[in-house]
Amino acid sequence: MDYLEIVGGNKLSGEITISGAKNAALPVVAATILSDKEVKLTNLPNVVDIRTLIKLLGMLGSEVDHKETTAVINNGSINSTKAVYEIVSQMRASILVLGPLLTRFGECEVSLPGGCAIGQRPIDLHLKALEAMGAHIEIKGGYVRAEAPDGLKGAKIVFDKITVGGTENIVMAAALAHGTTTIINAAREPEVVQLCQMISDAGVQIDGIGTGILSIEGTGGEPLTFDSPVEIIPDRIEAGTYLCAGAITKSEITLNKVNQEHIQASIDKLESMGCSFTMDADSITIHPAEKLLPVNLITTEYPGFPTDMQAQFMAVAVISSGESLIEERLFENRFMHVSELNRLGANIWLKGNTAAIHPVEELNGAVVMATDLRASSALVLAALVANGTTKVRRIYHLDRGYDDLEGKLSSLGADITRKSE
Ligand code: EPZ
Repeated sequence: MDYLEIVGGNKLSGEITISGAKNAALPVVAATILSDKEVKLTNLPNVVDIRTLIKLLGMLGSEVDHKETTAVINNGSINSTKAVYEIVSQMRASILVLGPLLTRFGECEVSLPGGCAIGQRPIDLHLKALEAMGAHIEIKGGYVRAEAPDGLKGAKIVFDKITVGGTENIVMAAALAHGTTTIINAAREPEVVQLCQMISDAGVQIDGIGTGILSIEGTGGEPLTFDSPVEIIPDRIEAGTYLCAGAITKSEITLNKVNQEHIQASIDKLESMGCSFTMDADSITIHPAEKLLPVNLITTEYPGFPTDMQAQFMAVAVISSGESLIEERLFENRFMHVSELNRLGANIWLKGNTAAIHPVEELNGAVVMATDLRASSALVLAALVANGTTKVRRIYHLDRGYDDLEGKLSSLGADITRKSE
């Protein structure tokens, strides 16, 4: 089993390039199902989750030529619409094939995603919306069986909660539906915008892209043609994670290939902690605070502060100069990193969905365990400033969503090595 061994105390310097966004690439790969011709994707992140979803497409009969950061996918050869448990249980985002398979083929069977460390993460809103579009949904033996033999019908969908995956599934389902679908209370994340742009570029009329109200004019069952290659947008969470690395180690580092608009919430909070920034067209340099100030965070949907940055900021707050408060509003169990950070010497207390982070003078290396993707990166950040050596186990969580994290940190001067035990 791989682990990361990190010796804390090094200053970082230099620059790295941010990879394509995992959470944009996943719906884009799923959306290729809407076409029966070749689609070219570029700037894919080289991470496990992308390889898993592409493996799933292969199992459905897709022809995929996948190199590290590019893929040419032809779904003209799909001969199965069953997404099996073995794959879906590895990655819950596989549920994003539900909408495209159903709207293209009129029926599909997708395993219910398994549980997840950060919360129950139900898909009730996805299923309710598809039923409103005329699908017959049955849950049996751990599978969602969906049928719409005459195709899906445009409908008015009001989401009780803002759901990124739910919005993405319905946008894809609506693309080939008969008539217009309106989604009210839609997610506005940049990853949702990229998906809408990709489908719109293929000729589907979508109004309201980037807003909470989307209107999609379906093709009535006609598959799409994606003429131009889709270049995945930069990963705003990866970028935010490395900005936190600069802040916590009090280092000046530069990130290339970022979209500054997408990371405004993280920039704003790091500025409130005393950091400053120099920005060029698509790069950003962090000038660290001499003395990190405490921070108060409430996670919310985009463009608010992202839940996927909560753990990383908690690590930075641990060594700031006062008490910080972090309220997690999106997931019911996204504080698994707290007990691990406390093993490194942090002093964090939980009350319901709020964490109080009391500052400590120093952290000390220990053996810690990653529990989920973003928690893992928070432990790595803390290890960069802990005295001595830290061992971060179960880093398969990290490999799902960070492209060569130890390589990028090493190139900045961190003492970090991947080992096996
Ligand atoms: C996406 O997950 C991201 N994953 C998550 O990133 C991210 O944390 C999340 O959005 C919120 O921004 C991908 O894009 C692949 P949601 P998703 O549906 O779509 C509840 C990472 O670290 N809900 O917006 O699953 C749900 O339980 C991952 O990269 C329902 O109740 O998130 C949650 O509390 C972690 N019923 C809230 O809504 C539903 O049918 C937001 O979930 C759907 C969701």
